[in-house]
Amino acid sequence: MKATYLGHACLAIEAGGKKILVDPFISPNPLASHIDVNAIEADYVLVTHGHEDHLADAEAILKRTGATLVSNFEIVTWFSKRGIEKAHPMNHGGGFYFEFGRLQYVNAIHSSMLPDGSNGGNPGGFVIESADGNCYLSGDTALTMDMKLIGESVKIDWAALCIGDNFTMGPRDAARAATFVGAPRVLGVHYDTFPPIRIDHEAARKAFADQGVELILAEPGSVVDFA
Ligand code: NI
Ligand code: MN
Repeated sequence: MKATYLGHACLAIEAGGKKILVDPFISPNPLASHIDVNAIEADYVLVTHGHEDHLADAEAILKRTGATLVSNFEIVTWFSKRGIEKAHPMNHGGGFYFEFGRLQYVNAIHSSMLPDGSNGGNPGGFVIESADGNCYLSGDTALTMDMKLIGESVKIDWAALCIGDNFTMGPRDAARAATFVGAPRVLGVHYDTFPPIRIDHEAARKAFADQGVELILAEPGSVVDFA
């Protein structure tokens, strides 16, 4: 499984022969200003929750690529009013077999109001199981015991975990989250984009190393191969 880090909490994952874009927030992100949002390809666009910093570019990318939107029921309904009909709604605990493999929408502890104040339902994360491996995408969340249930049912090869603190888990809790889901390697996301979530990279790596987990802090635009 390969993942291109596109800044903030945005990832482009290749799995099962498909391109899966997660939480697109590129054009408003100064740290991703070198990335051409109009060149991003996608077969699926996954949105974890309703906040602007997870979906700012979703509508434009969905309309340009014809990708399928996958999110919770409320967010899919909100996008349908903006002309996005190619979509697949899910809700917590539910899994579905897509072309690339099985995708499950899992619990997150956070909030999910949409940019215009609409109800974005409850926030979530995703678990992908594919022929190329399995991963857990936390979305924005606190550390929760529910993560242990994920590790009990799926062998997670790697996880993308929020580590920026303040709005989500910080490095210490995210390192424990990695052990809860059983992920030996973690791609850190949702850090450094805004002043309240700037973190000390060395301290973050140490927090993960203390739990026996490798933390990868990738430059926006770089590819991480989890093969
Ligand atoms: Ni959020
Ligand atoms: Mn966020």
